[in-house]
Amino acid sequence: MAILVLGGAGYIGSHTVYELIDAGRDVVVADNLLTGFRAAVHPKARFYLADIRDRQAMDRIFESEQIEGVIHFAASSQVGESMQDPLKYYDNNLGGTTVLLQSMVAHGVDKIVFSSTAATYGEPERIPILETDRTAPTNCYGETKLAMEKMMGWTSRAHGLRYVALRYFNACGAHPSGCIGEAHAPETHLIPLILQVPAGKRQEISVFGDDYPTHDGTCIRDYIHVTDLAQAHILALDYLLAGGESNVFNLGNGVGFTVQEVIQVAREVTGHPIPTRICPRRAGDPAQLVASAEKARSVLGWKPRYDDLKTIVATAWAWHKAHPNGFAE
Ligand code: UFG
Repeated sequence: MAILVLGGAGYIGSHTVYELIDAGRDVVVADNLLTGFRAAVHPKARFYLADIRDRQAMDRIFESEQIEGVIHFAASSQVGESMQDPLKYYDNNLGGTTVLLQSMVAHGVDKIVFSSTAATYGEPERIPILETDRTAPTNCYGETKLAMEKMMGWTSRAHGLRYVALRYFNACGAHPSGCIGEAHAPETHLIPLILQVPAGKRQEISVFGDDYPTHDGTCIRDYIHVTDLAQAHILALDYLLAGGESNVFNLGNGVGFTVQEVIQVAREVTGHPIPTRICPRRAGDPAQLVASAEKARSVLGWKPRYDDLKTIVATAWAWHKAHPNGFAE
């Protein structure tokens, strides 16, 4: 029996495929390669060029492979873009997941682990954030992810499908081997943008706002290594395979760092002074997002290995230094 990874050519998907194959699992990857890269797909995975909105393509995979469970990363994930083009997010994230679930139900595949996000909470009620806290997204991306969770909930009630939603905080870092890492075009995430400065691709890093109610005025986030996220998907799948009920888990280290602290860590890792420019706040950024991941630890037995930001940034730097053009070379 195989695990189907949708979006397995993307950043978190490709790292999860590496962990699954290292754990001896049989893996099938489907990706439309709109944002993912063929070169990011582990050579031992069977690859299908397919879009989750394409019902025939989904049916074909479930008919030609023996799939015991699905891990679903195939979605649009840029907060800013979701505000400019909300219908793209409804189409890809909700339309795509609708087609996928229809095909799963039709083929009797009833276990799915999928990417959700801290953006489902919006402005948090308290820090650290618990899974039971209020969900009130402040952007369209978070809204579609929350709607995906609800779609799974109703499908579960009607058809007995079981799901795990994993609400990631700030994914970062790269595979410790340096063979795969983060590559987005355009890049919008803090750590890869900071590392473009020592890589010689950018003069300085913009700091979006220094007047937040935090100890140095810059936003606090919970940075979690992509390999730790990948491990959580495997644990969540095993939890479902063992009969676990549908569930939602936060994935973070439970420790917050300000933007200025992340830049300082990157200076220490790279030995580069990394100049900064203070810019206006970016619309929609909450001052603080820090997870309580106690539930994932106690229910799934998840234990992040990379709890030190310096090590996390060092893995990202090793990847960016060796692959300045990502997967393009
Ligand atoms: N930031 C800067 N300068 C930059 C880029 C980012 O100061 O050039 C700041 C942001 O304002 C934010 C922090 O760095 O305070 C982190 O920003 P990212 O864009 O790296 O990440 P976000 O916290 O905005 O977004 C992440 C995920 C989203 C998810 C969101 C949950 O990437 O998918 O968390 O709120 F929706």
